[in-house]
Amino acid sequence: MSSTKKNWPKLPLGIRLLIAAHSMSVDAFSRYDGNAVNRRLMNLFDPKASPSRKPDNGVVSSDVVVDTTRKLWFRLYSNTTTAGKMSIPIIVYFHGGGFAYMAANSMNYDDLCKRLAREIPAVVVSVNYRLSPEHRYPSQYEDGFDVLKFIDNPDFEGFSAFGNTDTSSKKAFFIAGDSAGGNLAHHVALKACQHQFSLLKLHGVIALQPFFGGEERTESELKLVGAPLISVKRTDWMWKAFLPHGYNRDHHVVNVFGPNSVDISDLPFPPTLVFIGGFDPLQDWQRKYVEGLNKSGKHVYKIEYPNAFHGFYAFPQLPDTSLLMAEIKNFVLKQLDQ
Ligand SMILES: *[C@@H]1O[C@H](CO)[C@@H](O)[C@H](O)[C@H]1NC(C)=O
Ligand SMILES: *[C@@H]1O[C@H](CO)[C@@H](O)[C@H](O)[C@H]1NC(C)=O
Repeated sequence: MSSTKKNWPKLPLGIRLLIAAHSMSVDAFSRYDGNAVNRRLMNLFDPKASPSRKPDNGVVSSDVVVDTTRKLWFRLYSNTTTAGKMSIPIIVYFHGGGFAYMAANSMNYDDLCKRLAREIPAVVVSVNYRLSPEHRYPSQYEDGFDVLKFIDNPDFEGFSAFGNTDTSSKKAFFIAGDSAGGNLAHHVALKACQHQFSLLKLHGVIALQPFFGGEERTESELKLVGAPLISVKRTDWMWKAFLPHGYNRDHHVVNVFGPNSVDISDLPFPPTLVFIGGFDPLQDWQRKYVEGLNKSGKHVYKIEYPNAFHGFYAFPQLPDTSLLMAEIKNFVLKQLDQ
């Protein structure tokens, strides 16, 4: 038995084949140098979905432009049957893809955000931020925070159907994301918790297998060689494409509780829910993240799925994906109550 097979959970053949195809495209991409022709080629592996004004299982979506000069936009999802109800929370979502690929309109993310809108239920704002290596840190964080300011503006009417026309109380929102989007969720929340919003109030952070790292090689990185989708070779390339030239993986936005970390204990960082998978080489970095938040005095809830690989939630048929949806719903309802 090869070491590759040993580090894979039991999965249906269809899913294994999809993962293998995806890994090939990611590896082709890690030779990417920012050339526009290659970017177009990569997009062939990333099928896109259009927004739909016609309800898809109750959910409608539309694209909203924030800034044409940097092509910043988001896709807005809402469950038509919840229109008019008072307390529908907003989830601002950041897609994964190592900061370098995927988009808010990637088919997998379109499906995931629809499911969140339907099942939580929530109004979902899925952010299409700029990608590396064409745009490096801090472009992605700036795009994320600018979207928050945009939806906090009274002129933005996208939420008008969803309750809370009463301006005396604020609209509850959560910041969520997976993988690189989980890293973005953390850093955008750091800015958001220090900002005075006029209409919004931050209630929590939801990080699905967030992408953190460091110079050190963790036990799970060393052990899970050949695990689905993630390898140190791929993640090293992603950090290199994301960080400004001259920095290593101990930069404070990568190794958030590492040697160059910023003390957040005095900041009102909101309660955080973190999902970790047993077949994810990044799991030790995620545990350090949970530990770091806890040591900084923040409320953090950790959910571990022993059989989950990195990106499992792209497969709605996996039982862990349904469990994850239920946990997000629990967390959101609990934080809304407080
Ligand atoms: C959202 O839409 C679906 C499909 O129409 C519906 O079954 C569900 O009850 C809705 N959720 C809520 C909370 O209204
Ligand atoms: C941090 O973790 C410890 C041990 O699990 C727990 O007792 C403590 O309440 C946690 N701190 C916070 C702020 O949640």
